[in-house]
Amino acid sequence: MSTKNIVHAEAVAQYTESRLVPDTPAFAHAYTNSTAHGIPEIALSPAQGKFTSILASISGAKNVLELGTLGGYSALWFAQAIKGRGGKVTSIEINKQRRDVAIENLEYAGVKVPEEVEILLGAGLDVLPRLAEEIDQGKRERFDFTFIDADWDNQAAYFDWGVKLSNGKGSVIYVDNVVRQLLEIGTVGSAEKDSTVQDLVEIVAKDDRVEATVMQTCGSKDMDGFLLARTK
Ligand code: DHB
Ligand code: MG
Repeated sequence: MSTKNIVHAEAVAQYTESRLVPDTPAFAHAYTNSTAHGIPEIALSPAQGKFTSILASISGAKNVLELGTLGGYSALWFAQAIKGRGGKVTSIEINKQRRDVAIENLEYAGVKVPEEVEILLGAGLDVLPRLAEEIDQGKRERFDFTFIDADWDNQAAYFDWGVKLSNGKGSVIYVDNVVRQLLEIGTVGSAEKDSTVQDLVEIVAKDDRVEATVMQTCGSKDMDGFLLARTK
């Protein structure tokens, strides 16, 4: 396999983002204000943000579930995707400071919190069962699109919750950073195999509730990739 074009990935990202995803004050502020508050620069890139937003839009999603709000950059893209559909983005964040900065960033962008984006403070595995109860009680709608971008240790559990809280056949589950994780735990590549960490790809492959694929990505954020699943 030739990899000669990979050296140009960063330049391609810069060129294409400058043409197709130019910074708006709202998105630029989400990055700069997050960095100013010491939040790590691990949000989606502009191209990835727009990609996930287009994906949510064309999937017809009304309600989006997000695991890992960080500074709210991705939530901002999802809010844009589902605007006017009568649903909302529900995002879970374990870190109070990040939650507060995300609210600042969303409000700066004119997004209504919590009407358009609701950020729930807590550990995913504590908050998700509460969401399930609220769904069962008819207080909350099921999720058409789940975006998982949180701690890797619980990815498989988050994925399972994503399927359980999904809105029936054709719901989407997107898991960020799956390729880098495969490389880091040595499932693929030269790192020593870490058998204490679950391989999400292996788990999803055996999950009859979904069909899934992994797309590798390359750009301003090194080589990585995401897992995209659809409930059957
Ligand atoms: C890291 C986490 C992410 O979700 C990401 O997209 C990039 C990097 C990290 O923890 O380093
Ligand atoms: Mg990520």
